[in-house]
Amino acid sequence: MDFNLSEEQKMIQQMARDFAQKELAPVAAELDAKSEFPSRHLKKMAELGLMGMMVPQEWGGSGLDTVSYVLALEEIAAACASTAVTMSVNNSLYCGPLVRFGTEAQKKKYVTPFAAGEKLGAYALSEPGTGSDAANQKTTARKVGDKYVLNGRKNFITNGPHADAMVLYAMTDKDKRHKGISCFIVEKDFPGYSVGKIEKKLGICASSTSEIVLENCEVPAANLMGQEGEGFSIAMNTLDSGRIGIGTQALGIARVAFEAARKYATEREAFGQAIANFQAIQHFLADMATDIDASRLLVWRAAWMKDQGSNFSKQAAMAKLFSSETANWVTDKAVQIFGGYGYMKDYPVERYFRDAKITEIYEGTSEIQRLVIARNVLKEIG
Ligand code: CAA
Repeated sequence: MDFNLSEEQKMIQQMARDFAQKELAPVAAELDAKSEFPSRHLKKMAELGLMGMMVPQEWGGSGLDTVSYVLALEEIAAACASTAVTMSVNNSLYCGPLVRFGTEAQKKKYVTPFAAGEKLGAYALSEPGTGSDAANQKTTARKVGDKYVLNGRKNFITNGPHADAMVLYAMTDKDKRHKGISCFIVEKDFPGYSVGKIEKKLGICASSTSEIVLENCEVPAANLMGQEGEGFSIAMNTLDSGRIGIGTQALGIARVAFEAARKYATEREAFGQAIANFQAIQHFLADMATDIDASRLLVWRAAWMKDQGSNFSKQAAMAKLFSSETANWVTDKAVQIFGGYGYMKDYPVERYFRDAKITEIYEGTSEIQRLVIARNVLKEIG
């Protein structure tokens, strides 16, 4: 077993860290306060090859492995969790399925400019009444000549207001439940497409989230990804990868909250000494450091398994579950260590605390991760 990173992986990690600390960390609080989408920063990230990291170079990407991706994403998340989810969705949920399931023509048109960061992608599965039970899709797609006509509403779509195109799911045969779901590439300029309600959120406020409304939206038949009825399997396969990204985002948030709390504990005095001298604080720091390390190992293992071409559904769910619950526990304790100052906007732990919550919810709640893990471990009985 080798835990060493390759020279290339170390270089990518350092490059992402340099960018994140220099360009993102200083403005993250302001972007959050203004709910300002980080368009300028995404442009620079694209120049650094961070928007299509696992996309082969022939399609405009960086052609890197998933381990490199999580190393870079952790650095971005530690600086700005909003920018991290924007990056994660474009890389894993948009470019990912197109590279795996798209035709050559679809890749040329819908991967190259997105991996190069000229355009931004999104992933539209959730609906107002369809979250955890993803097979219960109400959006319909009806074939009419050489087009599909889509009707329905997608909600909580990360990147929704800024997306140029999205990988979107709709029912082509509602009698077949999950086997009647198909996957489409939908552009923002298609007739009948509009951006609906733009959400105001508890955390990751600089990322953008909206409803997408489809009213007789005309999608060329050539934009069907895979075959009719293959949509659910594409959606699930894509989420396996996406969950590694959210686990990584949670890891970055937990790490930076821990670092802030550790530093503060050595500076803040009570009863005549630094609070880091008290065992209560030391136990917090020890548990934080241990759980963060365990999160990182789970994330790296899932990424490595994906790179080996193994089935990594269970490992991705474990990584996301553990990292997201760790991020919530660690950020809670970071606020506690900061005491009253932790509750104020003058210190960043308040933002980390708010940003952490979503990692237990999107790309499958913790309850769904447990369901995926349980189904897998029960299947493993000899
Ligand atoms: N890969 C490929 N196929 C898979 C799969 C996987 N990981 N998991 C299941 N499938 C296939 C099964 O093999 C089965 O296929 P067959 O019928 O051909 O055998 C089919 O899918 C149905 O499987 P299940 O019976 O397990 O389906 P289910 O209805 O019980 O649902 C679920 C399973 C795990 C609960 C799923 O609905 C799920 O993951 N729900 C959570 C949805 C989710 O994560 N939403 C997030 C939205 S995106 C987002 O959040 C983005 C963002 O903002 C950042």
